[in-house]
Amino acid sequence: METKITLAIETSCDETAVAILRGRHILTTEVASQINLHALTGGVVPEVAARDHLRKIRPLIDRALANAGLSIREVDAFAATRGPGLATSLMIGTSVAKGLALASGRPFIAVNHLEGHLLSPFYDDFVKPAVGLVVSGGHTLLVNIEGIGRYRPIGGTVDDAAGEAFDKVGKLLGLPYPGGPHVNRLAADGDPARYDFPRSMLESGDFSFSFSGLKTSVRYLLPKLKEYRVEDLCASFQEAVVDVLVSKTVKAVADTGLECIAISGGVSCNTRLRERFTAETAVLGLECLFAEPRLTTDNAAMIGFVAAMKLERGELSPMTTDIDPNLRLV
Ligand code: KG4
Ligand code: ZN
Repeated sequence: METKITLAIETSCDETAVAILRGRHILTTEVASQINLHALTGGVVPEVAARDHLRKIRPLIDRALANAGLSIREVDAFAATRGPGLATSLMIGTSVAKGLALASGRPFIAVNHLEGHLLSPFYDDFVKPAVGLVVSGGHTLLVNIEGIGRYRPIGGTVDDAAGEAFDKVGKLLGLPYPGGPHVNRLAADGDPARYDFPRSMLESGDFSFSFSGLKTSVRYLLPKLKEYRVEDLCASFQEAVVDVLVSKTVKAVADTGLECIAISGGVSCNTRLRERFTAETAVLGLECLFAEPRLTTDNAAMIGFVAAMKLERGELSPMTTDIDPNLRLV
């Protein structure tokens, strides 16, 4: 196993993150969240996010090195997310990583943020064939993982991402931003069968997801209710999302003949989603890998994990590598 040191930077959206790995193993993972900053505007303003990355990145690198007990001279490769994400945010992370690589004469490795999420459930072991489900604030993707760098898309959302639906419903219910974790917490005391929300595209016969109709039905229902328990609304909404995710993912596994499901992204933290996937896969005799909680929402360790595997394979990136806000997985 490689024991080279990789320093990885993630600044694709609203978390400034730095991680240091020895080989595939995380030595430290640091995240400076901008949630409080963006709570003021109820969403991310790109220029505000980029300027905050610029302020935080240097102290965060120093903190990561101190926590790993290393000096910058001991780093063998510098990695950063090149997309998808906000252009101005991506530029901060890639520019800093390239600058450090250039100054130290070490390689630069550009990483696709989606590949970071997708492979995070395999940390810190080897990647094996699986159906990958990425459920985050920006993405809902079903992917056939044939091996490292060999991905075949199976399906995805035609409108809102799963996390986006959680956040929008959270906002409708007056919960703080981002709504996902709050909906999850309140749902624990709610009745998931109290409201019958639509399971969009459940019978569509393909692997497309749609969550915007579900959000709309919550919006239309709310003014009609004289009184309600917010816990019941959260539990019923959450159950509708989880039903569709579990059902389509299990069908994808059956279609591909694979025996492993790898689940990642911020929404994979959801306790009901974990419960349901664990139960379903146990019945079907499938293996179910979840990303560790610290690797679910945006972080640099998942970027470093992919970079470390690229370093092992000699897949370095030229200094001319550009950012790509619309970068796709394949
Ligand atoms: O992976 P991530 O940082 O986003 C993107 O890369 O796009 O995930 C953030 C998303 C947010 O939408 C947040 O509300 C959601 O993940 N989230 C959750 C939970 N924890 C985070 N959604 C449902 N239940 C949770 N426990
Ligand atoms: Zn992400």
